[in-house]
Amino acid sequence: MNILIAYATRTGSTARAARLLESELPGAVAVDLSQSTPDPTDFDAVILGSGIRFGRIEKPLRAFLERHWEALRDKDKAVFLCNAIPEEERKILRSNFSIRFRNDCVLAESLGGELDLGALSKKDRLLLKAAKPQLIERIREGLLPALDTDKIKAFAQTFLDAIDPPKLVYDRRTRRLVEVRGRA
Ligand SMILES: Cc1cc2nc3c(=O)[nH]c(=O)nc-3n(C[C@H](O)[C@H](O)[C@H](O)COP(=O)(O)O)c2cc1C
Repeated sequence: MNILIAYATRTGSTARAARLLESELPGAVAVDLSQSTPDPTDFDAVILGSGIRFGRIEKPLRAFLERHWEALRDKDKAVFLCNAIPEEERKILRSNFSIRFRNDCVLAESLGGELDLGALSKKDRLLLKAAKPQLIERIREGLLPALDTDKIKAFAQTFLDAIDPPKLVYDRRTRRLVEVRGRA
């Protein structure tokens, strides 16, 4: 299976999630959309991922969606977000992707997020404090956002099962039923 994981990141969380997905999915390749612009028609399936700033997906993913919406329409696909406020997941998905696109996806969900306040620019820190005071409060209380590795693994498994369901075949050598993948 030839799977494209196309992602956009500002501070690296989405890249880390994409690389974890890549390691869980045979035949997958993770591509940073700010470095190169792959052609989805070269792939059997596509996973799209983005970090979130003030409720929005990153610009390279928006540009990729605009450019390739037609090719993506008929692909097996999934979307993941990296964000730090779990309660915003549904709202972010709704405001960045059309209902049709979301319904066409095998999965559309957040895989968690990370936030290092010390690594932010002064401007970003101030903007974030004004827009998301509850997030700053939580972090100060020691509730640090994190990527959900179990969810990332489950995401990869569910995606693979949907696009390339395992079949049971009889193995004459071991005389057992074994699971095999691979489209006919
Ligand atoms: C300026 C700024 C704005 C953010 N806005 C949101 C937001 O609206 N909702 C949210 O859940 N997380 C928000 N976050 C948290 C990020 O989504 C989180 O840090 C994510 O892991 C970033 O992904 P990236 O490292 O791939 O860019 C924000 C972070 C920053 C620095």
